[in-house]
Amino acid sequence: MDLNGLEGVVVADTALSDVDGERGRLVIRGHDVEPLALQHGFESACALLWSGALPDAAALAALRARLGQARARAFGRLPSLGDALDGADAMDALRASLAHLRADAIAPNELKLELTAAVAVFAAAWSRQRAGAAAIAPDPTLGHAADYLRMAAAPNSDAERAAARARALDAYLVAASDHGMNASTFTARVVASTQSDAVSAIVAAIGALKGPLHGGAPGPVLAMLDAIGSPEHAGRWIAAQLARGERIMGMGHRVYRVRDPRAAVLERAIEQLHAAGLRSNRLALARAVEAVAVASLAERRPERRLAANVEFYTAVILDAVGLPQPLFSATFAVARVAGWLAHIDEQRENGRLIRPASRYVGPMPEVREAA
Ligand code: COA
Repeated sequence: MDLNGLEGVVVADTALSDVDGERGRLVIRGHDVEPLALQHGFESACALLWSGALPDAAALAALRARLGQARARAFGRLPSLGDALDGADAMDALRASLAHLRADAIAPNELKLELTAAVAVFAAAWSRQRAGAAAIAPDPTLGHAADYLRMAAAPNSDAERAAARARALDAYLVAASDHGMNASTFTARVVASTQSDAVSAIVAAIGALKGPLHGGAPGPVLAMLDAIGSPEHAGRWIAAQLARGERIMGMGHRVYRVRDPRAAVLERAIEQLHAAGLRSNRLALARAVEAVAVASLAERRPERRLAANVEFYTAVILDAVGLPQPLFSATFAVARVAGWLAHIDEQRENGRLIRPASRYVGPMPEVREAA
């Protein structure tokens, strides 16, 4: 087995999610991702990941209210964040702003809510600041998706359209909430395994998610769709990209050998937006570019099955709900923080210190040196 990249190495038993790369199936705590994402919202996914079961109506209402209050508290922290939100990169801003939280200053039973709320509120505030606008205070009566959208993008649309956008974003947040032992989740678990605190683990996970091979792809996917412009240019553009030795963003996956099932969920959610009168002219283009990219990659690397991953349609859906492209990776963190927090708990409950080994390939002293 080639251990480079730990491909196929099992590092934990988990009850949180299962990624079947051959069949293209994602199960989150006993639920297939598609019905979960299309029928339930982000708070339900949080309850499922954190407690093991979908909440009943009363528990869901209580969680929504508590998360809303946590957003209001996170908003209250904004003046104490110094220059954390000043940078040009949303992930840098998230890393710096979340690092201001202190786990020992937050009640243990509030920690998940505080961190989940803070990611959304700080990301939205960064986006507003970047646009030269004042941060928008949360509305604790709204669901997390609707409020994040309101705070980040201030959509100037009627209630019906705002609700349709929030539903689409909710589907995205659920679909992206957990995904096996991905790089940022592993990072969070490594930090948690040292018995460090949850804030440190989440800050580290954000660092891992930032990279373009993990959560940094949807921005470049949108840039690619814009550069291609219309379906008839896709073939030439993709061929030129591959000839330069560049990767096609939103294509390929470490685990999936078929199309990422989350791509289908997002496509469905975008179709529902269309049905609500919110058309994204990028959906048709994305489908055309996907077909060309899959065919070109198959021709080039027939033995390595490369298909669309979640990031491909993430770009389309986040654009369609009105979020600006620089906020895409941070919006991934808004979703994934739910999974990270569940994994941190699971690691603490069941895991040992994660401390793998390496193979030394450097030089040895010619003779054993005296100490
Ligand atoms: N475009 C072009 N070629 C690709 C490719 C892509 N998107 N993804 C993989 N390949 C090629 C690689 O160049 C490599 O070829 P090589 O052996 O000649 O170098 C081969 O397929 C195997 O790739 P590998 O790097 O082993 O795959 P991986 O499992 O390490 O990487 C990803 C998985 C996701 C990092 C990779 O597919 C990728 O970079 N995709 C684009 C970025 C992206 O969409 N990231 C979001 C992931 S959800």
